[in-house]
Amino acid sequence: MNRFFRYFVIAAAVVLLGFLAFIYAPVQRTPAQSLLAADYAVPAGTGAYTMRLADCAACHTTEGGKPFAGGRAIISPVGTIYSSNITPDPETGIGRYSLDDFRAALYDGLRPDGTHLYPAMPYENYRKLTEEDIRALYSYFQTEVTAVTASKPLNKLGFPFNQSWGLRAWKWLALGKAGFTASASDADLARGQYLVEGPGHCGACHSPRTALMAQAALSGDDPAFLSGGQIAGWTAPPLRGPKSALHGWSIQDTKLILATARNAHAAINGEMQLVVRDSSQYMTEGDLTAIATYLDHLNQGAAKPAAQVQTATEKLLISADPAMDLGPRLYLDNCAACHFATGRGADEVFPELDGSSLVTAQSPTGLISMILRGGALPSTAARPERLRMPGFAYRLSDDEVATLASFLRQAWTNDTGPVTAAAVAELRKSTSDE
Ligand code: HEC
Ligand code: HEC
Ligand code: HEC
Repeated sequence: MNRFFRYFVIAAAVVLLGFLAFIYAPVQRTPAQSLLAADYAVPAGTGAYTMRLADCAACHTTEGGKPFAGGRAIISPVGTIYSSNITPDPETGIGRYSLDDFRAALYDGLRPDGTHLYPAMPYENYRKLTEEDIRALYSYFQTEVTAVTASKPLNKLGFPFNQSWGLRAWKWLALGKAGFTASASDADLARGQYLVEGPGHCGACHSPRTALMAQAALSGDDPAFLSGGQIAGWTAPPLRGPKSALHGWSIQDTKLILATARNAHAAINGEMQLVVRDSSQYMTEGDLTAIATYLDHLNQGAAKPAAQVQTATEKLLISADPAMDLGPRLYLDNCAACHFATGRGADEVFPELDGSSLVTAQSPTGLISMILRGGALPSTAARPERLRMPGFAYRLSDDEVATLASFLRQAWTNDTGPVTAAAVAELRKSTSDE
């Protein structure tokens, strides 16, 4: 018994010491992943371009605010986190950051004083950035961005997420290996994989999250990567597998939607519009090809959609039978003029509702929001005109929107669950509060 007690005390002491070390021992910073020549100079123009690839503006610039002055609220399940000022202001920005400090923020989520950044800053993905890209970004933020004085608002978080050791433990469990390794030797595929996994941080929205809110997978080799996620109540659809719309698209279709927010099948709304507006529309032809080729590669093996035949829904809509249910009737009265009885719209003007990942998304928020408020596609360099769809909030009741949305989710080849009037009422209320 005595002996057992002694072991017990020793074991408890070891655990306690380990825990204290875990809380107080300084955190290691990940070193540069490759050694560049001592006189390495960032090639002209690459700083601004790398910033576009990594979309730092998405979170660090508020709507209408000064570039990179931070203060954008990011609502997460654990609380509200505000982005930092990353202009070169020495007091409130990152003007005093050394290159090593900057790398530690992007790789390890660490500030120079050793405090931990919340993973709302996507260092899970930026850990894959090459040293060349880190240098390009560092040079851009130190020399090309105008310094702005703006303090970061305090985050509003609950226990244990407001504890530094909580974040440290989280990182220990969630962070993958630093650096990038390509899965294929083909140059386009390797570049595409790098852009998607690293700077593009596509998985931050398009991959599911674990119970710990970490990205379920960080590399395309894992089938969970890009298998669909949630952002701001919307579904970020799967980009791979039989359930993704992409498996039926050509490489050209995918390039077009990243460059212009529209293609022959779909249109882009919600948070992805900001990705196109601030990031993907600036990508070079070569980088767009690389991403589209890589996504196509992830979809190889998924059966292509069957040849288009006249569906029962189309026959019903064309029959214009007066005894038709309310759902199809509402569609004929309000939507068919643009989206047609086929549900296939018109290439690059009216998106397809048959097979649309927004219509069949697990979360109906995007679909309800489109019907109530309508939408407009961003103006891009290649497609400056903004295509608009009108909102129907003023003429359709909550019941009617729910009936119409439920019809659409089962129409043509779509097959997803119904929408309730309560969900419509909630969204209508939250938009009128804004
Ligand atoms: C998805 C949103 C998001 C994106 C994209 C993003 N950041 Fe951040 N970043 C944040 C948030 C939020 C914080 C503050 C986190 C906190 O309070 O712990 C932050 C903090 C930082 C910090 C720490 C500054 C400090 O001392 O407080 C640096 C440096 C930084 N980001 C640089 C970048 C760079 C460079 C990019 C582009 C390569 C980028 N971020 C892209 C959300 C983002
Ligand atoms: C901030 C979150 C976010 C990030 C980051 C993001 N996406 Fe998206 N993406 C979305 C959402 C939400 C949608 C759904 C938009 C809609 O329903 O209209 C979407 C839609 C798409 C679509 C259309 C898919 C379909 O089925 O219609 C493609 C393609 C796409 N994203 C590719 C990418 C790529 C490639 C990246 C990385 C370079 C990326 N996304 C990064 C949120 C994001
Ligand atoms: C005047 C023409 C017009 C009418 C009428 C119209 N739409 Fe649209 N719709 C558009 C355009 C243009 C877009 C692309 C704009 C966007 O996505 O922001 C669009 C986009 C959509 C999308 C997003 C598709 C995607 O791939 O992201 C949905 C869903 C949708 N409409 C449903 C409806 C429904 C339901 C109705 C009837 C209540 C309707 N539309 C009526 C023109 C129209």
